[in-house]
Amino acid sequence: MNILVTGGAGYIGSVVTEILQRRGYKPFVVDNLSIGRRKYVPEDIPFFENDIADSDAIAKIIRDNHIDVVMHFAAFALVGESVENPEKYFTNNIEGTLNLLKGMKAGGCKRIIFSSTCAVYGNPVKDALDESHPKNPINPYGYSKLVMENCLDWYAQAYGFKYNIFRYFNAAGATALHGEDRDIETHILPILLQAAFKERDHFTIFGNDYNTNDGTCIRDYIHVEDLAEAHILGIENMNSHPRAIYNLGTGNGYSNLQVVNALKEITGMDFEVKYGERRPGDPDMLVAAATKANQELKWVPKHSDLKNIIETAFSWKNKLLEK
Ligand SMILES: NC(=O)c1ccc[n+]([C@@H]2O[C@H](COP(=O)([O-])OP(=O)(O)OC[C@H]3O[C@@H](n4cnc5c(N)ncnc54)[C@H](O)[C@@H]3O)[C@@H](O)[C@H]2O)c1
Repeated sequence: MNILVTGGAGYIGSVVTEILQRRGYKPFVVDNLSIGRRKYVPEDIPFFENDIADSDAIAKIIRDNHIDVVMHFAAFALVGESVENPEKYFTNNIEGTLNLLKGMKAGGCKRIIFSSTCAVYGNPVKDALDESHPKNPINPYGYSKLVMENCLDWYAQAYGFKYNIFRYFNAAGATALHGEDRDIETHILPILLQAAFKERDHFTIFGNDYNTNDGTCIRDYIHVEDLAEAHILGIENMNSHPRAIYNLGTGNGYSNLQVVNALKEITGMDFEVKYGERRPGDPDMLVAAATKANQELKWVPKHSDLKNIIETAFSWKNKLLEK
């Protein structure tokens, strides 16, 4: 089966491409390299340096390579930047994705797995978020993903598209070959590892007066390899559930302070931790209720205990530093 991976030179897309190939699927990658790196797409995988907004190029790639399914990771995903510059997010994540869909329709592929986010929910009104939780995004990034979720459903109704939408919680960890490596890191693990390796002089926890046990925010970390597994299950699942949305998280939350302490303990590295101001729009706790993915998609996270997440991210960091 031929799978077109948009954003396959980025973090999650490169891991999914690796695992698709390992499982005998034939991945093709489209990436404009605005964030991702060419070196993370292996030479034996067909690579197209195109923008998803180029619907003619997308249609041609789909037609020429008999693409069966598109896995759509390409997007901008920095929450803070989206607040400062919503236009950048609406242009890439909404207009870009609409053009991708146009290209898919013209090229004759109507099956898509779409990377969405728990940011579509906004401030939680209950502890564990299930898919029916109200969708009130509090930043343009989350809003851009919600718009495309809704558009996809209209595409399904009008044009016969099939979709599985995955709302990831916090992707983390690495494989031996792929992990996080961007010019600008905003996620907790790569930043903690920068502090551990003295690439920054301390680590800042934003806020210690949240309504949690230790006062720091609680988040649900999901190993990127478990995310990849869900995408593979989604390929078949789209036949029986052609308009489905699933949360991908573990249902367990860890506070920022717990992650910091676990990383120090597991890696044996020490660094200074400071407390800063709360960041606007950070809820106390974001934890998934992922029962629907467990039951319907038959997805069970196997790699997502915090120790494994930290160990794999640490090995990846060591590998980056060796280069
Ligand atoms: N990382 C997370 O924790 C997380 C959580 C929730 C949702 N997501 C979503 O998952 C997807 C992948 O996230 P990631 O962390 O791998 O991001 P990433 O930034 O590492 O990768 C995104 C890739 O898309 C490419 N890209 C961006 N715009 C493009 C365009 N217009 N045309 C072609 N290529 C383009 C970039 O060059 C990059 O290689 C995103 O859609 C993101 O919103 C990520």
